[in-house]
Amino acid sequence: MAGESFGKEQVAKALALATGKEEKEILSALETPKDPKMGDYAFPCFTLSKDMKKSPAAIASEVKKKIDSLNKKIIEKTETAGSYLFIEKTEAVGPYLNFFIKKRHIAQSIISAIAEAPEKFGSARKKKEVVMVEFSQPNTHKAFHIGHLRNVVLGDSLVRISKFNGYSVVAANYMGDVGAHVGKCLWCLEKYHKGEIEKIPKEKKGEFLGEIYSEASRRIEEALEKGDKSLKEEAALVSKKLEEGDAKLTKLWKETREWSIEEFMRIYDELGVKFDVFFYESEVEKKGKKIAEELLKKGIMKRSEGAVIVDLKKYGLDVFLILRSDGTALYATKDLALAEEKFTKYKIDKSIYVVGSEQKMYFQQLFKTLELMGFAKAKNCYHLAYGLVMLEEGKMSSRQGNVVKYRTLFDEVFKKAGKEIEKRHPDWGKKEKEEAARKISIAAMKFGMLSQDNNKPIIFNIEKALDFEGDTAAYVQYAYTRASSIIRKNYEENKEKITLEDAKDADFSALSSESEKELCKKLSDFPAVCEKAAAEYKPFLLPKYLLELSKDFSAFYNECPIIKAEKETRKARILLLESARTVFKKGLELCGIEVLERM
Ligand code: ARG
Repeated sequence: MAGESFGKEQVAKALALATGKEEKEILSALETPKDPKMGDYAFPCFTLSKDMKKSPAAIASEVKKKIDSLNKKIIEKTETAGSYLFIEKTEAVGPYLNFFIKKRHIAQSIISAIAEAPEKFGSARKKKEVVMVEFSQPNTHKAFHIGHLRNVVLGDSLVRISKFNGYSVVAANYMGDVGAHVGKCLWCLEKYHKGEIEKIPKEKKGEFLGEIYSEASRRIEEALEKGDKSLKEEAALVSKKLEEGDAKLTKLWKETREWSIEEFMRIYDELGVKFDVFFYESEVEKKGKKIAEELLKKGIMKRSEGAVIVDLKKYGLDVFLILRSDGTALYATKDLALAEEKFTKYKIDKSIYVVGSEQKMYFQQLFKTLELMGFAKAKNCYHLAYGLVMLEEGKMSSRQGNVVKYRTLFDEVFKKAGKEIEKRHPDWGKKEKEEAARKISIAAMKFGMLSQDNNKPIIFNIEKALDFEGDTAAYVQYAYTRASSIIRKNYEENKEKITLEDAKDADFSALSSESEKELCKKLSDFPAVCEKAAAEYKPFLLPKYLLELSKDFSAFYNECPIIKAEKETRKARILLLESARTVFKKGLELCGIEVLERM
């Protein structure tokens, strides 16, 4: 089901007939005026002034005359008759020709489209392409912080949006389980905390490891400040021994690695995020080195002061370092092997990497190198970058340096959401309260992470994120809940059960107020928003849309009586409510957010 936007195609058809221009061209030129007083669609006539050799204003009134007379003349049922009959009136304003669509038609076409296939409304036809979204690539032996949360939320929603748009999607994770950070953590664990491990409960071990890593960094840093390099060297030695296959350290690495992975899995579970494949840096390291050797032979890479590099200067990029002069692997080495695995084993057409914006240059170098290696699909690689996440000063008590852990944020948000629920529903059972608080908390965090342009930094404010009246998940979830509660109430008071099935024989002429028309129009924008979010990798378009929809919904809700309205009007309005519920639910689902029937 594509963009079933009421009347837009019809307006384009009418304009095509009146001007002799291509319908497609007109369709892309048609604008939606910000002010509804200026009509539902506006056609900028300067696009025609070159061909018609007249001023845009003259063209506007000329075309207006043509369309108005066609509109009057056509009574018999022809292919295009319907198009004109949708148009209530036209107005020429300066260089613009504005179109007003009959309200009843707007409501009828959008509600019927939703009723026809509620689950599919807004989705696109199945496509051949396979898209891999690689996201959440946390490093083991380190804490999972709120920057990682932004990554997961972005990646997960892109997976959902791409699937909804008809792509076959592979959700991939790529954990950093080897490297200097592991050596540092194990060094500190062995040296200062040996006897403690047994005392830590199993489910806390991952977090414990994250704290050990921070401590290691702190200790090394402090020693360096005093001019003492010995700690840094000790940690580096652990890394080296581990890389050389030291049996004892390898055993400890394997055991501790599991602790982190278990912690990450718990977080994904809590967030309702699923992966189809898990890659690990440790598994692509050897292969990466082999690839580098081969490319060296082929002349795609070269030696420079002992190291292996790719010279990308002629593409305006920095030299790309692939292997150190001592032959050890780097971050880039592993990415070559990972890409090969993605392209050849998974046969993907598009490869999206959700990674912080500080790696922008790195991914330009990587993608160029993949192209030079001969991967035809390398030009379909995309780095979905995102900015930092910070907490507003003074809002969080337990901090670790300047990183805020995911768990700390969740606990804080959950506590506040719990209080809000307690205030609103003291009569609810414990389980019900907890469930609601959990859904609201996850939603608040996700929406907060998603509603900003991904390139901009986020300053997260817990209170604001939970505000039922702000630009928040709670505001959108609450709109859905209100729609649900009216439907329940109507059932109780009027003993009517109206479902979307009833749209077939409903009379929509009652939906004639401005707020009803605006709500219908907003609903009809949903397919285009979904399409754009997927095509341009912009998940934030969805929360933005859902906030607008909530505002239009509120206006309708406040202006139009429903339960007390007369029977036919009531039916039409309930159907509009059901349509809005459908879109709210689907839109939130695409953000990874659950709805509540009561809150
Ligand atoms: N684990 C890495 C980090 O924390 C991110 C990995 C991104 N993905 C990739 N294919 N390089 O910085």
